[in-house]
Amino acid sequence: MTLPRHAAAGPWTPDSWRPLPNAQAIAYSDAGALARATAHIRRAPPLVTSWEIERLRELLAEAQQGRRFVLQGGDCAESLEDCTPDAVTSRLKILLQMSLVLVHAIKRPVIRVGRFAGQYAKPRSNPVETRLVGGNAVSLPSYFGDLINRPEFTPEARRPDPDLLVQAYQHAAMTLNFIRSLCDAGFADLHHPEYWDLSFTRHRSLSAEVRRQYEAMSRELASALKFMEAMGEQSVDRLSRTTFYTSHEGLSLEYESAATRLVPRRVGWYNLASHLPWIGERTRALGGAHIEYFRGIRNPLGVKIGPACDPVELLRLADTLNPGNEPGRLVIITRMGAPKVGESLPRLIETLASARKTVLWVCDPMHGNTTTTDSGLKTRSFSAILEELEHSIDIHTRLGGVLGGVHFELTGEDVTECTGGAAGLTEADLGARYTSRCDPRLNDQQALEMAFLLARKLGDQARGA
Ligand code: PEP
Ligand code: CO
Repeated sequence: MTLPRHAAAGPWTPDSWRPLPNAQAIAYSDAGALARATAHIRRAPPLVTSWEIERLRELLAEAQQGRRFVLQGGDCAESLEDCTPDAVTSRLKILLQMSLVLVHAIKRPVIRVGRFAGQYAKPRSNPVETRLVGGNAVSLPSYFGDLINRPEFTPEARRPDPDLLVQAYQHAAMTLNFIRSLCDAGFADLHHPEYWDLSFTRHRSLSAEVRRQYEAMSRELASALKFMEAMGEQSVDRLSRTTFYTSHEGLSLEYESAATRLVPRRVGWYNLASHLPWIGERTRALGGAHIEYFRGIRNPLGVKIGPACDPVELLRLADTLNPGNEPGRLVIITRMGAPKVGESLPRLIETLASARKTVLWVCDPMHGNTTTTDSGLKTRSFSAILEELEHSIDIHTRLGGVLGGVHFELTGEDVTECTGGAAGLTEADLGARYTSRCDPRLNDQQALEMAFLLARKLGDQARGA
């Protein structure tokens, strides 16, 4: 396979991506307004610090060795309107609960990474959307997320608006500020049973055996939390004062490069809008603008990898994005789809392993398992998501490696977007509370159940069962 040689040898600057092909380029009509918006972000205080980023890199390096586990999750597309206390709290709560289920089962610390506080941009397969309006076909720019334009189907709403870059930065700051306060104060009610709605464990659709397993796991968890409480205020306090890292897809290079800074007494450039930005499946082309931008920043990086990725291409990506082969720098987030993972994943793992590339493997079991219902709603089935996860764990284990983390689209609310789970949501139920602006998310009960099943699988694997 011939791949384009990457311009990696050339000098890097936060703007060296500009002349290169950009698969998701946004055409702003007012260059002056764009320059004012990015100048505003450049002047504003950063959202995260370089020492947090360096700390995360150390933690990710430990996850690579199987000493920690990454739980990354949140909305597919955050919206500016959803920057509310309830939405932020419920997202944090579900991630925290899932992480405790995992910690308890796998006896390893979990690194909690939110897909929030900046997850405002969405790549699109088609830059234009056509709808029938009053019997006529009308074509407008697709909705690229609140960072770029607005979802309403009108020419004004769909026009890329540079001011949204500033608004998104400010909303990410507000979200992060609230998250930091919540974490600092501790989730004090963590150990109260009413805090844990585990009603899915009692659902009639579950077999007696699965129900027994769920009940045993939740009993053990409750008693572990009680034990912590009995040890005194301090230990619950420590447990509940958690750190969340923030991550988002680095789609808009105007936004990302405006947030890229030199930091006193440190070498190199940092993206200070996110601890862990990632490159999407649609923008990871070698020789493209995104790879050029990301290779130059010091942050740990994620790259989404789908089933079409050739092993040689992945090797080149690893060389370009992590030429020093530094531990904790590169997170490969695979999203193959349950039917394809068995064929696509092993050759990628083997290729990087034989080239001695050090990466952290994370499984995103959501994006390869999206289907569309007859009524046109995007959905995902709980069982396909679980199947890809379980398969990926087995494949890594068989090849002598480790799956170091998972990446979910989820919400703390009772939405009806994915089918299945103990409550047995069907396609007919999806219309009830479908609120995602983009991809379907696991609801709170599905997310917690997924954590139980993942914990069971990882626990079995650790015991060699
Ligand atoms: C996403 O994470 O929402 C996404 C678009 O993923 P991918 O790049 O893997 O398709
Ligand atoms: Co998505």
